[in-house]
Amino acid sequence: MRTIRQQLLLGLMSGMVITIIVVCICSYLKVRHETNELFDYQLKQIVRSFPANMSLQQSETTDKHPGKKIVVQVWNKDRVMVFTSNPAKNLPCYEKTGFFEVIAGGNAWRIYSEESNQQVVQVGQLILDREKIELSLALRSLIPFLILIPVLASLIWFVVGRSLQPLTKLANALGERSADSLQALETQAYTPEMMPIVNAINALFLRVDSSIQLQKMFVADAAHELRTPLAALKLQLQLVERMTDEEELKSGIKKLHERLNRATHLVQQLLILARQSDADEQKIDRKISLPKLARQVVGDFSLLAENKNIDLGVDVSEEDIFIQGNIDSLRVMLGNVVDNAIRYTANNGRVDVSVKNDGNRFSIIVSDNGMGIPVTDRERIFDRFYRVEGSGESGSGLGLAIVKNVAELHGATILLSDAPGGTGLVFTISFEFSDFNNVEQC
Ligand SMILES: Nc1ncnc2c1ncn2[C@@H]1O[C@H](COP(=O)(O)OP(=O)(O)OP(=O)(O)O)[C@@H](O)[C@H]1O
Ligand SMILES: [Mg+2]
Repeated sequence: MRTIRQQLLLGLMSGMVITIIVVCICSYLKVRHETNELFDYQLKQIVRSFPANMSLQQSETTDKHPGKKIVVQVWNKDRVMVFTSNPAKNLPCYEKTGFFEVIAGGNAWRIYSEESNQQVVQVGQLILDREKIELSLALRSLIPFLILIPVLASLIWFVVGRSLQPLTKLANALGERSADSLQALETQAYTPEMMPIVNAINALFLRVDSSIQLQKMFVADAAHELRTPLAALKLQLQLVERMTDEEELKSGIKKLHERLNRATHLVQQLLILARQSDADEQKIDRKISLPKLARQVVGDFSLLAENKNIDLGVDVSEEDIFIQGNIDSLRVMLGNVVDNAIRYTANNGRVDVSVKNDGNRFSIIVSDNGMGIPVTDRERIFDRFYRVEGSGESGSGLGLAIVKNVAELHGATILLSDAPGGTGLVFTISFEFSDFNNVEQC
């Protein structure tokens, strides 16, 4: 691919050369035309300078010898030649008058002839001679343009080089940076034409910076959150090692299992969250049936619900409810919401998953009759590692952060409201209608 510099130079230089060629051709044609007219005028003047009735005697005294390139001849009324300027190149006396061209003696001639009662005066000039002079005059007129070519070319070279300097400056400014220097480029240092690029780069720096900060915070939080369960595990292990009583040992090992399960769950949630920043894994390219998704997730959690004797059911208003999405992410999202509903609802409670089409949007609604979430906590529960105090359940505090990411990815909105029965939470996720162009059904 050509560089901008090459394209500019090529475009401007060829434009300049084409213009100069056209100007040269026009100038050449004009000079030729004018020289021709001048020669014709000269021929006419020579003819007119002869006396009206020349005799042979007069001709000897008349010095009308205009040079070897022009032949002047005079004939009297009996067509007897009374004068010739160049006997070696005599031409016949033509019948025509005025300007005309003839071939004589193998050469092309331009003739001018005038006839009066007494005589015919005819002057002839070799066309080759005229053309030679015309050509040399026309070429001389082109000299200024030929001098102009290198002058204009150097000017174009200089101006193009100077105009592209801001790009080189930008490339240098970016090239000199280290991987972690993400401060904005100085906008005053660049021309207005460069501003869209400079602004776009600055905006990108800002996004990369905030994403790096988020990653750093995430890693720090993750390390902190992992340290506690691992320390507890180690402590529990040390305790178990010292136990001798069989009953005590059994309960100690059970606790060890529980702690290990919690640590494993935390790692799993962290991995899901980390994977969400990978754009390739988050492609929204499938046509997904929301009723089918709801039934699958309810199936996944039926055992957990059974353990707490919770009535877990699905209610689908119509089967034809499809959205465009990523099936794995949506399953993780709904799974986390249903998991919360079961986990934070007391034994013998009720959890309902329903899929609705309200005419404007499709919604998945998960309602429970559990402890609900205080209004003051509803904003913060989507933050990473945030947990409502006193829920009595163990968890990593990452479930709803994952839910929020998946909802954002699908352009869905989340609404938390109180359950109509007094206690409990209604968790509504609403999706826009999708048009399914180039989408595979799932
Ligand atoms: N249906 C619900 N009823 C009552 N409280 C809820 C409900 N859903 C979430 N919460 C509260 O919101 C907090 C955050 O939930 P989130 O799912 O993010 O974390 P978690 O359940 O503690 O951990 P994880 O889901 O990663 O195991 C929970 O600790 C819980 O207190
Ligand atoms: Mg949860």
